[in-house]
Amino acid sequence: MDLYEQSKISKRAGEGIVRSLRSAELMSRHAIGNLLLAITLFCSAGCLDASVTRVYNFTVQPLSVTRLCKTKSLVAVNGMFPGPTLYANEGDRVIVNVTNTAEYNITIHWHGIRQLLSAWSDGPVYVTQCPMQTGQSFVYNFTLTKQRGTLLWHAHATWLRGTVYGAIVIFPEYGTPYPFKAPDEEHVIILGEWWYANVEEVETTALLSGGPPAIANAYTINGLPGPLYNCSYTGTGNVNTSDTYVLKVAAKKTYLLRVINAGLNTDLFFSVSNHKLTVVEIDGDYTKPYTTDKIVLTPGQTTNVLLSTDQLAASYYMWASPYISAQNVSFQKIQTLALLEYEGFTTSAAVLSSAFPAANDTNSVTTFSTSLRSLDNSVYPEDVPQTVDRSLLITVGLGIKPCDENHICQGPNRTKFTASMNNFTLVLPDVAVLQAYFFNIAGVFTRDFPDNPLFPFNYTGNPPANQTPGRGTKATVLPFNSNVQIVFQDTSIQGIESHPIHLHGFSFYIVGQGFGNFNSSSPASFNLVDPPKRNTIGVPVGGWAAIRFKADNPGIWLVHCHLEIHTSWGLSALFLVPDGVGPSQSLPPPPADLPQC
Ligand code: C2O
Repeated sequence: MDLYEQSKISKRAGEGIVRSLRSAELMSRHAIGNLLLAITLFCSAGCLDASVTRVYNFTVQPLSVTRLCKTKSLVAVNGMFPGPTLYANEGDRVIVNVTNTAEYNITIHWHGIRQLLSAWSDGPVYVTQCPMQTGQSFVYNFTLTKQRGTLLWHAHATWLRGTVYGAIVIFPEYGTPYPFKAPDEEHVIILGEWWYANVEEVETTALLSGGPPAIANAYTINGLPGPLYNCSYTGTGNVNTSDTYVLKVAAKKTYLLRVINAGLNTDLFFSVSNHKLTVVEIDGDYTKPYTTDKIVLTPGQTTNVLLSTDQLAASYYMWASPYISAQNVSFQKIQTLALLEYEGFTTSAAVLSSAFPAANDTNSVTTFSTSLRSLDNSVYPEDVPQTVDRSLLITVGLGIKPCDENHICQGPNRTKFTASMNNFTLVLPDVAVLQAYFFNIAGVFTRDFPDNPLFPFNYTGNPPANQTPGRGTKATVLPFNSNVQIVFQDTSIQGIESHPIHLHGFSFYIVGQGFGNFNSSSPASFNLVDPPKRNTIGVPVGGWAAIRFKADNPGIWLVHCHLEIHTSWGLSALFLVPDGVGPSQSLPPPPADLPQC
């Protein structure tokens, strides 16, 4: 049973427990593992448009996994790698009981979920919660409001998200069709990065040396690297499937691929040989259909595409390949492949069409990102802030800091790499900022993150002599319901680079972007009608991107570069949105089981 069949079943509201058992049974038949699904109907009689509560149990535990001839123990959920997919409909409440039995402290983040009035369930460690220590549990509890499509969940403590990740599939509300041709089947395509080493050690080693981290040994599609790497078995004839993901398809059908970049440090192109992809949704918001040969996703981005199996019956490679905007960095150059295999195909060799894009193919990235538009029709109208109450310009980039004494550091000129927003490196405290805010605990964070760089310079020109940012746990206050505009400006300090900036707690409109420095004539090009809505924006390399959103969600919200090494280096800041008026605009107190530090 594919996802689409399942969605049709879950759309048959009113069957209550019978349906929930049926779904659970379907899911286990569908190898969703020991995930438990229970559904409780909220409404009483009739309720055809009922929202339901979906309950999942996640056990974080070690798992032994073999890839490319080597076996390692990694941290996973419910014995699955990648982890289980969360299924829900728009409007549902989702409850995830997470228990940590692994040896590391951990939290889980529901990337892209708005968390309206549920900031306690957002998950970034030391921002909204202290971590679950070994043996501890926490119940994440949130409602899916005005979002539908594909998102992802992942660990949000140290580098654990390298292996602790999975898809979130949000079907439309009950009885609501897709605003595009209904697919015959749906499949999750989750891209990742694989290290032979323990990812925790990759981070620790990099932070100790101050240099760049070890590059991934492979990219993966649904956890599998494909046949191009050393020791991935190709054999003769057909590809051995033990290291390669195979999607079997029938001819003349429409498939919805839910593509996710769950990788740590690499933007990825994704394509299917000889087939066009039509983008219909990004980061949980519908788009105008856009047809292309290849898409590109930064870590944290998701893209739903339609694919028609309109080619000759054969086996075709799908692939992901890196987009690397920085110069002089090393990266894994070998692509990950998977197979799209037509029923009854006859040729023995799989088709690999067209050359892979160059790793520095910024033109393709720009064409793709500037072609996306939100759907913005009468059923799904967009609400782009036309006026701005609060305007910020935030530089995003790298820096250096001194080497600790008696160390040989491997950053530039024997220093250590660091990173900053508006020249401040975010330092995570050892208690959660949201708790400190809610309970007025002094001395944990300050409210003086600047609205603009304190020392403006030619951001994309010659870098300044002093490249060492300040440090602190700084938030800026965005008044409740204010319309916020933020320009993220890349800097040339230690080299220009496209930073994928992710904002927790909000989706935002990307109203403009460009190369060079943002200036007073830049807003003339803004799209305030149907800009794409996302939760993660790849700021153009050596350029800027402008976003707008309404600060309608009280809490403390992390904004950060979703390249994991840059998060480790402190390329992050905090937004504080105070309560509005009354309970419907106020953050409730924390749940009783919120982990303590
Ligand atoms: Cu996907 Cu703060 O993370």
